[in-house]
Amino acid sequence: MQLQNKVAIVTGAKQGIGFGIASALAKEGYQIVVSDLKQADCETAAAAITKLGVKTLAVACDVSKKNEVGNLISQTIKEFGQLDILVNNAGIYPYVSFLDMTETDWDKVMAVNLKSVFLCSKAAVKEMKAGGKIVNISSIASFIGFEGLAHYCASKGGINSLTRALALELANKKININSIAPGAIETPGASGGMTEETKKETIALIPWGRLGTPDDIAQSVVFLASNKADYITGQVLVVDGGWTLR
Ligand SMILES: NC(=O)c1ccc[n+]([C@@H]2O[C@H](COP(=O)([O-])OP(=O)(O)OC[C@H]3O[C@@H](n4cnc5c(N)ncnc54)[C@H](O)[C@@H]3O)[C@@H](O)[C@H]2O)c1
Repeated sequence: MQLQNKVAIVTGAKQGIGFGIASALAKEGYQIVVSDLKQADCETAAAAITKLGVKTLAVACDVSKKNEVGNLISQTIKEFGQLDILVNNAGIYPYVSFLDMTETDWDKVMAVNLKSVFLCSKAAVKEMKAGGKIVNISSIASFIGFEGLAHYCASKGGINSLTRALALELANKKININSIAPGAIETPGASGGMTEETKKETIALIPWGRLGTPDDIAQSVVFLASNKADYITGQVLVVDGGWTLR
């Protein structure tokens, strides 16, 4: 592995897709800022990633809070003096039927999943130079409906739209912003609550015949974060084993 003189922040990185992304970027030689809600979790994940041979920094941050996002970016600059890649991965998907959904439920999902992308991207862009890359983790729920996830589907659709609009404004700074829309990925958050039966039912919907892994998503992030993707911006890359093809 060749160390790169590049620094990547990954939000929601203590487990699941975020940890997979942080690990894959580390294997490519990026220095990694591991961020999640609790400092102890960030430190545990950062210690594992340090073993891959890169420098890491652990910074707790609730991505829905402007002051905590400001601290995440300023700690990154204080430690590394630069910021090259931002991966907006943190997200929640609490199931609740639309009729039972409260305003508080709605506001929470919007704040953690969508407002966070606004807050983190805005703070990050101020520090990024030409060649900087933002990758947002959206979902196939931005294209198809899921019962019990009206707020989530809306928040992920919002990410796709924000990605397109921001891509236009960031083009003159030569900063790329793209989204990845995962299908069903085996993570503590998603499959933790799945019974063997619901797992089988989900797999039956996927032409590829299996759930995705965090690394399936992470390898797409590695590509979009690299200079091989310099001419790609404002796009949503679907990584779902073919789920949304039919
Ligand atoms: N797993 C899937 O099937 C799937 C499918 C499509 C999209 N996604 C998206 O991928 C991303 C990661 O999902 P996952 O399945 O790995 O979930 P997960 O629940 O396993 O991990 C999410 C992480 O985000 C953190 N987090 C939650 N709220 C936060 C906040 N306010 N600030 C900072 N961190 C916070 C959690 O602590 C956790 O570590 C999410 O944006 C999710 O919507 C997941």
